[in-house]
Amino acid sequence: MLRVMSRSLVPDAVERYVAMEISRETPLQRRLREETSHLPLAGMQIGADQGALLAMLVRLMGARRAIEIGTFTGYSALAVASALPAGGKLVCCDVSEEWTSIARRYWKEAGVADRIQLKLAPASETLAALIRDGGTGTFDFAFIDADKSNYDAYYEACLRLLRAGGLIALDNMLWSGRVADPQFHDDDTDALRALNAKIRDDARVDACLMTVGDGVMLAQKRPPQ
Ligand SMILES: C[S@@+](CC[C@H](N)C(=O)[O-])C[C@H]1O[C@@H](n2cnc3c(N)ncnc32)[C@H](O)[C@@H]1O
Repeated sequence: MLRVMSRSLVPDAVERYVAMEISRETPLQRRLREETSHLPLAGMQIGADQGALLAMLVRLMGARRAIEIGTFTGYSALAVASALPAGGKLVCCDVSEEWTSIARRYWKEAGVADRIQLKLAPASETLAALIRDGGTGTFDFAFIDADKSNYDAYYEACLRLLRAGGLIALDNMLWSGRVADPQFHDDDTDALRALNAKIRDDARVDACLMTVGDGVMLAQKRPPQ
């Protein structure tokens, strides 16, 4: 029996309803969730509803080129890559050979491995290399879901890599509600709280903080003024 990880601020029964009754998952996605659930850090995996959201955004935009920062066992990458058209490309950034070796197995089984380029290196290095190699303005979609203290740097790099109209989705922007408590301070909470406020005031994007999961911030790059 698959347990529901608590990710969101909605009551447990509602989260269970969303995750187990209403969110559609392929048998392969379900198997990946099952295998991941045995890992000590299983709670890092996005929810089924978030996977469906990312896939829908990718399809709505007609995205062809995407970036992911934080891959873990590959659930979000599987959702995004499966929503890309044939010939689409997803660059995945992670530092863990162990976790991403699980991801590779599932991508292969889903028939999307040829769309995914996994870069095992600190994401800041991979993003800098993409910019250096002429990637500026060439991506449609980015999903940020890795180390929180570097989110601002990832946001800035992704903004450069996206075309006008491109979309960045950032996970965990509610940080279990801690960002909303001005008395609460630690490095990650302070970084995420500051980034929420920065994006709110950022004239380069149109933005919306969605209360799905642990908070998904959507920031769409505006054309140059
Ligand atoms: C929250 S998990 C990602 C979950 C994933 N999106 C999913 O759907 O299952 C965060 C991942 O970020 C990776 N990570 C942490 N620091 C990193 C860094 N500096 N560069 C690249 N990846 C990093 C971790 O190895 C971990 O796999």
